[in-house]
Amino acid sequence: MNTICTQEILIIGSGAAGMTVALELAVKYKVGILSKSAIESGSTWWAQGGIAGVFDHQDSTESHYQDTLEAGAGLCHEEAVRYTVESGPNAIHWLIEQGVKFTQSEDKKYHLTKEAGHSHRRIFHAADSTGKEVSTSLADRVKTNPNIRLYENHVVVDLITQADKNSSRVRCTGAYVLDVQKDCVIVFQAKSVVLATGGASKAYLYTSNPDGATGDGIALAWRSGCRVANLEFNQFHPTCLYHPNAKSFLLTEALRGEGAYLRLPNGERFMSKFHPKEELAPRDVVARAMDYEIKRLGCECLYLDITHKPVSFIDQHFPSVKAYCLSFGIDISKDLIPVVPAAHYTCGGIMVNSLGQTDLWNLYAVGETAFTGLHGANRMASNSLLECVVYGRAAAKAISESISSIPEFDIANPWDESRVTYSDEDVIISHNWNELRRFMWDYVGIVRSQKRLERAEHRVKLLQKEIQEYYSNYKIGKNLIELRNLVLVSELIIRCAKQRKESRGLHYTLDYPELSSIAKDTIMVPINFAAQNIVVNKN
Ligand code: FAD
Ligand code: SIN
Repeated sequence: MNTICTQEILIIGSGAAGMTVALELAVKYKVGILSKSAIESGSTWWAQGGIAGVFDHQDSTESHYQDTLEAGAGLCHEEAVRYTVESGPNAIHWLIEQGVKFTQSEDKKYHLTKEAGHSHRRIFHAADSTGKEVSTSLADRVKTNPNIRLYENHVVVDLITQADKNSSRVRCTGAYVLDVQKDCVIVFQAKSVVLATGGASKAYLYTSNPDGATGDGIALAWRSGCRVANLEFNQFHPTCLYHPNAKSFLLTEALRGEGAYLRLPNGERFMSKFHPKEELAPRDVVARAMDYEIKRLGCECLYLDITHKPVSFIDQHFPSVKAYCLSFGIDISKDLIPVVPAAHYTCGGIMVNSLGQTDLWNLYAVGETAFTGLHGANRMASNSLLECVVYGRAAAKAISESISSIPEFDIANPWDESRVTYSDEDVIISHNWNELRRFMWDYVGIVRSQKRLERAEHRVKLLQKEIQEYYSNYKIGKNLIELRNLVLVSELIIRCAKQRKESRGLHYTLDYPELSSIAKDTIMVPINFAAQNIVVNKN
């Protein structure tokens, strides 16, 4: 018999998005938060640059709106952009109320930094560790809130769906969850379920993301009948530290925002050949330019240079970057920093409306796992923490307004492990994990072609068969759950990429280098489409 845990609202994910929903709802309701590792293990903790919001009197929401649209290469949903940028100042106030301390100047005014695509200084930041500050401040509140129960090291395997007795509408009533420490599967049930599981950049060999970015929410939602969209737009951040022992370390775009240059191995600057905004061109343009130069010169990396700035300025604004680079013997105030692009952000995701509702009744999705239409074909820097807070609060409001009318659920069937055994060989998991990430990097990376995508599609199908077989026969563990999800999301990324017969934003293909005159989302519909009647913003 499985343990059954019930709460009013179940939130899967403890990043900025999940914690925002939880803190808003815990004012009135009992909330459970699941995290597959420690509370601060998601991407949120790693965010460096900051969070965008219009405060400066020389800036305007119209300008933030236009910059976001421009970065998104014609594919942003205008209503989503307007809603987000207009909600930006409130979202930042809300974070300050939760105890987040953004960097201030000596006159106690907030210091606003700049990143690519932004035509004004509008990025609130906590030096170069904004995510750590946001994450720890929200986590402190979560841990001390009597209405929130936190379950760390609990990994969702699949969502539970049930047909409602009266209306026969299918809805989400919870999830099967692996308790990693006890090594058993528990049934969690709730009236509303929120996916806040982050992105899927771990599909690529080189990534700025932490290990858990395996697209679990996208896979869970897809298997439960939700549409997903625009997964071909995986963003590659131009500047990750290139060093054999430095795992996934990002060098914030705020370095370029504050004047750092990109250089070739011979010291030459090169970005003026690719875009009038040079180092501050949209991220897709910079990453592609770097990929082009690395391939043209046959070199392993390029260089970021901030040596022309005063040491005191570097110490004040980039203390974490400086300390981390120094641990590898690189003094950023004197040395050029070796950099390469790496997978960074999943612009597509689970389709939601402006309240975070998915196609499945009572299932919400917020944060990087969701597709709100905000980012279009290329996310502008520092718009994603903003999206987590804005949509997290909107989803909390929608849940709070609807929860009293949600019918009781039936107790779910227990998790059946009667036909599986312990595996004696886990090498299949590590091998397939590496193979998947390698071919995604080689064939579905910064520059694509139909032939490369077809090769990847062939490989992914073989892997899926093997992984599904393994999943059906052996007892599940965290690595297998993640691999099963990542291989599915990779398949969806490839299918989306194959469907897009143009080059736009982050999707660049040698076979269709031109921009189509029609801007259209790539929408994937599962065979068990749940079809709750949500109205998704149009682009
Ligand atoms: P995450 O913070 O990734 O949290 C995901 C949560 O879901 C985790 O708690 C995880 O344990 C849980 N989870 C996942 N799967 C399961 C499962 N199966 N079962 C249970 N729990 C699960 N954005 C900005 O706006 N500004 C920046 O400056 C910035 N810098 C960045 C720097 C780096 C290095 C990185 C990696 C990203 C950066 N981003 C930045 C992007 C931004 O940090 C993320 O998009 C955002 O934090 C995502 O928040 P989230 O709450 O959606 O997910
Ligand atoms: C960075 O600091 O460069 C990351 C900003 C972002 O991804 O929004």
